[in-house]
Amino acid sequence: MDSLLKIPEGVILILGKVDSGKTTFTLFLVNAFISEGRRVAVVDADPGQADIGPPGTLSLGFPEREIQKLSEILPVRMAFIGSTSPAGIFMWPTVWGVYDLVKFARERREIVIIDSSGLVFGRDGYTLIRSKISLIRPDLVVFLGEEREYIHLIEEASRYSVVKLFPSSPSVKRKSFEERKANRIRRWKNYFTGSFEAELYWDSLKIGGFPHFGVGIPFPRERLRELSLELGTTILWAEEYNGMLKCLTFSCPKGDFEVNLDWLSLESLKHTLVGLEGREGLIDVGLVLSADGNGVLIKTRCVRLNEVERVLLSKLKVDEEVFRD
Ligand SMILES: Nc1ncnc2c1ncn2[C@@H]1O[C@H](COP(=O)(O)OP(=O)(O)OP(=O)(O)O)[C@@H](O)[C@H]1O
Ligand SMILES: [Mg+2]
Repeated sequence: MDSLLKIPEGVILILGKVDSGKTTFTLFLVNAFISEGRRVAVVDADPGQADIGPPGTLSLGFPEREIQKLSEILPVRMAFIGSTSPAGIFMWPTVWGVYDLVKFARERREIVIIDSSGLVFGRDGYTLIRSKISLIRPDLVVFLGEEREYIHLIEEASRYSVVKLFPSSPSVKRKSFEERKANRIRRWKNYFTGSFEAELYWDSLKIGGFPHFGVGIPFPRERLRELSLELGTTILWAEEYNGMLKCLTFSCPKGDFEVNLDWLSLESLKHTLVGLEGREGLIDVGLVLSADGNGVLIKTRCVRLNEVERVLLSKLKVDEEVFRD
């Protein structure tokens, strides 16, 4: 352990299965480095049990003094995932998100510690970890648990990094599904405390966000009116993908039309977690309160709304409880 703290500078990636003690170990390292006067960055790469930013995002923070919990760290930069799991299609935003945060952190702090999600097994776990390791090239990879569980990943990690393995503490407490959900709601509630309502207008916005939008060729804005007439409802955004027209609609399209349509109506956006993206990437997140033909009313902490160019939709519905005052 002492040799670990002697690392002059670099990136430390903490890996382990669910409930193996990754976040606790990250916290220990943060405090140990800070107590030695080292400048530390923490990348929270777990969009589920997120500690620094809200769930559904990855985040980066710069702790300035010793802390009791990672949630004391303020997010200075975030990446939008739009899911509480990095599995499946969300793997790519997770990988490019972690990469971006680590790059930003590396330029500003000596030590960058990455706390990860517990997705380490199976095809998704292997792909996620291999991608992270190949792109980030951490100086040190720490596995928590038993060697036999991670042998294939240790082999990969050893190509680029020093690898350390520590057994999980026998005091590790497992979190139930309900506890995880309650943690997420608490984190969202905290994040949106002090937020305000703001309206964003469709005519000046692009739409993106997996799994609905963001991968197709945008339909020309000047032809949306024509398309709306054809489909019998206002079309706020459309993109072509795989012979299909994916649309954000005011209501259910009506009538006979030729196109192969996949649509999402405004009504279904209520309580959705959205990313607010500017020219240089994610600015902040918001929660949809309502939407109409003009725009979308959100709850947000974002003070740079004039820079928002794109709203990233998601399938994440934030619990009613978060909206209660
Ligand atoms: N070394 C330890 N001593 C005592 N308790 C611990 C220790 N490590 C972890 N715990 C406890 O076990 C629980 C799970 O730990 P932790 O949240 O660090 O795991 P994790 O691997 O980050 O979990 P997740 O997969 O949800 O991210 C927590 O309640 C934590 O306080
Ligand atoms: Mg954790």
